[in-house]
Amino acid sequence: MPMKFFFKKKTSIMKDMGKCRSYIHRKTSFKPDIALILGTGLGGLSKRIKAEKIFDYAELPFFPQTTVQSHTGKLILGELGGKKVAAMEGRFHFYEGYSLEEVTFPVRVLRHLGAKMLVVSNAAGGLNLDYKKGEIVAITDHINFMGVNPLIGANEDRLGSRFPDMCEPYSKRLMELTELAARETHIPIRKGVYIGVTGPCLETRAEYRMMRNFGADLVGMSTVPEVIVGVHMGMEILGLSIVTDTCDPDHLEPCNIQEIIKTANEAGPKLDKLITAAISKF
Ligand code: HPA
Repeated sequence: MPMKFFFKKKTSIMKDMGKCRSYIHRKTSFKPDIALILGTGLGGLSKRIKAEKIFDYAELPFFPQTTVQSHTGKLILGELGGKKVAAMEGRFHFYEGYSLEEVTFPVRVLRHLGAKMLVVSNAAGGLNLDYKKGEIVAITDHINFMGVNPLIGANEDRLGSRFPDMCEPYSKRLMELTELAARETHIPIRKGVYIGVTGPCLETRAEYRMMRNFGADLVGMSTVPEVIVGVHMGMEILGLSIVTDTCDPDHLEPCNIQEIIKTANEAGPKLDKLITAAISKF
C-alpha cells in the first residue's frame, strides 16, 4: 500500500460516519452506552449479549472487512450486564494493510451512535516475567511504538481537539470498578503497561529487551490506535489483555500464532465473565 494512504486522511470522515450511523438507525433505534472491541479469544462474549440487532461488517457503509482468521466480522447491539452495548466481534489491524483511519473508523461510528465508554480487549505477549500465560491484565497506560498515529492529518474539530491530552487514557474509575468485579468473581487480574507495535512479525530478543527497559509489561499489535481515537472523542476507556505468550529474551522459544490463539481461547471465558461483571457496575 502506498505510504500516502497511511498519512493522507480522507476529508469525508464526518460524512462517512454519518452514512454508517444512518444505515444503522434505519434498522434499529438502539442506542449503546458502551462500545466493546472483542479481541482474539473473546468471541464467546458475544453469545452472552441479549442481541437486539446484529450487523455483518460487510453491510455497514465504509466499515473495513476483517482478514484475520481468529476474527469474525459482526457488530452486535444488545444488552450485557444490564447495560446497552455495541460489541465488535473482530477488529482491524494496521498489519492487514488498513490505514489507521480505517482501523479506528468503527470506534468513531460507535461514539457517534452514543457510546461514551469503550472497553478494548486483546491478546498480548507478556514482557513482565511475573505474568503467566492465560492471565488477565488491566492496561494502566500504553506506549505507542507503531511509528504512526491515527490522528495525523487534518483535525476534525467537531470530533476532538488537535492535541488531545493523554495523561489518563485508561480511566481510573473503570479500572477500580473492574478490580472490584474481579474480587467479586474471584478472577485474579494484574496491571501493566501495553506497548503497541505494528506487527505482523513477532519481536526479536533485542526488541523484547528494549521494550522491557522502556517499562512495558505487555506487547501487542492492536488497541493503541483505537484508544487514541477514543481519547480524541472523550470516551472513558478500559483495556484488558490476555497474556498469550512469554516474551523472555533470555529464554525465548519459537512462538506460533496458533498457540497464541489457543491460549486466548482458553482464557476467553474468564475474561467474558469479568467484563460482564465489570460493565454491570459502569
Ligand atoms: N508480540 C506482539 N504481539 C503479540 C505477542 C507478542 O509477543 N503475543 C500476542 N500478541
